[in-house]
Amino acid sequence: MSGIPTSRDSFGSKFGVIAATAGSAIGLGNIWRFPYVVGENGGGAFLIIYLAFVVAIGLPVMLSEFVIGRSSQRNAFGAFKVLAPGKPWYLVGLMGVVAAFMILSFYTAVAGWTLEYIYQSFANGFSGKSADELSLMFTEFRSDSWRPLLWFFVFMGLTALVIISGVKNGIEKYTKILMPILLLILIVLCVRSVTLEGARGGLEFLFKPDFSKITARTVLEALGQAFFSLSIGMGTLITYSSYINKREPLGSISFSVAFADTLIAVMAGIAIFPAVFAFGIEPGSGEGLVYITLPNIFQQMAGGYIFSLLFFLLLGVAALTSTISVLEVIVAYFVEELRLSRKKATWLATASVSVLGIMCSLSWGAMEGIRIFGMNVFGLLDYLSANVFLPLGGLLIVVFVGWVLGKQKAKAELSNDGLLKAVYFPAFFMVVKFIAPIAIALVFLQQIGLISL
Ligand code: PHE
Repeated sequence: MSGIPTSRDSFGSKFGVIAATAGSAIGLGNIWRFPYVVGENGGGAFLIIYLAFVVAIGLPVMLSEFVIGRSSQRNAFGAFKVLAPGKPWYLVGLMGVVAAFMILSFYTAVAGWTLEYIYQSFANGFSGKSADELSLMFTEFRSDSWRPLLWFFVFMGLTALVIISGVKNGIEKYTKILMPILLLILIVLCVRSVTLEGARGGLEFLFKPDFSKITARTVLEALGQAFFSLSIGMGTLITYSSYINKREPLGSISFSVAFADTLIAVMAGIAIFPAVFAFGIEPGSGEGLVYITLPNIFQQMAGGYIFSLLFFLLLGVAALTSTISVLEVIVAYFVEELRLSRKKATWLATASVSVLGIMCSLSWGAMEGIRIFGMNVFGLLDYLSANVFLPLGGLLIVVFVGWVLGKQKAKAELSNDGLLKAVYFPAFFMVVKFIAPIAIALVFLQQIGLISL
C-alpha cells in the first residue's frame, strides 16, 4: 500500500498554480520543438491539426489529470492506487515515471545547449558570422565530446537544487516575474522577424495549409507535439494538481494554461519561420533550427547583443520551469512510495537520469554510431516519449476517468463538490468517455499500419 504522507506541500494561490503549471507547459517544447516539428511536417496544415488536438483532446486530458491528482492527493503512481485499489491501474502511473526519465534525459541535454548559447551571447560569439558559419558553429558544438556534457550536468544540477529546496517559494515566485518577460521578448522577436526582407515566405509556410503534406505520421506528430507541449499523458499534471487547493477552479486553470501554451508556440513560429526563409535556412533542419536561426536574427538587429543574451537566458528559465516539473514526478514517487527523504530521492533520481542523459548529450559526438530504428539515442527518446508514451498514457488516463472513476466523482472534483457550475462538464465527459479514446486509438492504429483512413 502506498505511504500516507503526513503533510504535503501545496501551491499558494490560483495565480501561483497557473504560473507553475504554465511554467511546466511552456518550455523548449514551444520554442525549440514546435518550430522544428512544424518545419519537418510541412507547415500550415500541421498547425491546424495541432490546434484541433489541443482543444479536442489536450484540454480534456489535462482536466482528467487534474481530477486524478487533486482527488487523490498523491504522486502519479500512488494516485491510481488510491483511486482504484487492488487494480493494475497504477501501471499507468509507473509508465509516467518511466516517461519522465526519458523526457528528462533528452530535454535537459537541449536545455544545456541553451546554457552554451547564453555563454556565446555573452562573449559576443555570433557577431560577424554568416548563416552558414552559425550553422557550423552549432553542429560543431553539438558533436563536441565534453561541452554538451558539461552543460547537461550544470542544468541537471540546477534542476535538482530547485527541487530540493521546494517548489513553492522558489519557482512559484520567479516564474511569475520571468514568464511575462519571456512573452515581451518574444513579441519583439516576432516584430523583427516579420519585418525582415523575404519574411513573407515564412508566414505563408506557417499559416497557409497545404493538405497534400499530411500523412499518417504527420497526424501522430501533431498529437505527440500537443501532448508534449501541454505536459500531459505522463503524470506531471497529476503530480502538480495534487498540490492544488480544493477551492481552486480546475476548469479555468486548464483553459488559461492551454491558451498560454498555444500562444507561445505560435509566436515562436512567427519569430522563426520568416527568419528561416529570409536567411535561406532549410525549415526541416531539425533540432538545430532555433539555435541556428535566432542567432542570425540577433546579429542583424539593433541591440542584438542584449536581446540574444536575454532570449537565451529566458529560454533557459522556461526550460528550468519544465525540467523541475518532470523531476518532481520521479521525486514525488520516490518520496511517497519508497519513503525516501526528499533530498535522497532527488539525488537518486538525478543520478539515474544522468545515465541516459549522457547518451543523449553525446548523440552527435562520441555516441553517434549508436542507431536504433535509424535514430540516435536522443532522437529515439524524443520520438518515443512524445509519440508513444504520452499519447498512450493520455489514452489510459481518459479511459480511467471516463470508465473507472466515473461521472459522479469526476463531476464532484471539477465542480469543487457542487460549489462551481462547471458548465463544460457534459461536453468534457462525453469527450473523455468516447471521443478522446477513439481518436487517440485511431491515430495509433493508423500509424502502425493496422488501418488506413
Ligand atoms: N511541456 C514541456 C515543454 O513544452 C515539456 C514537458 C513534457 C514537461 C512533459 C513535462 C512533461 O517544454
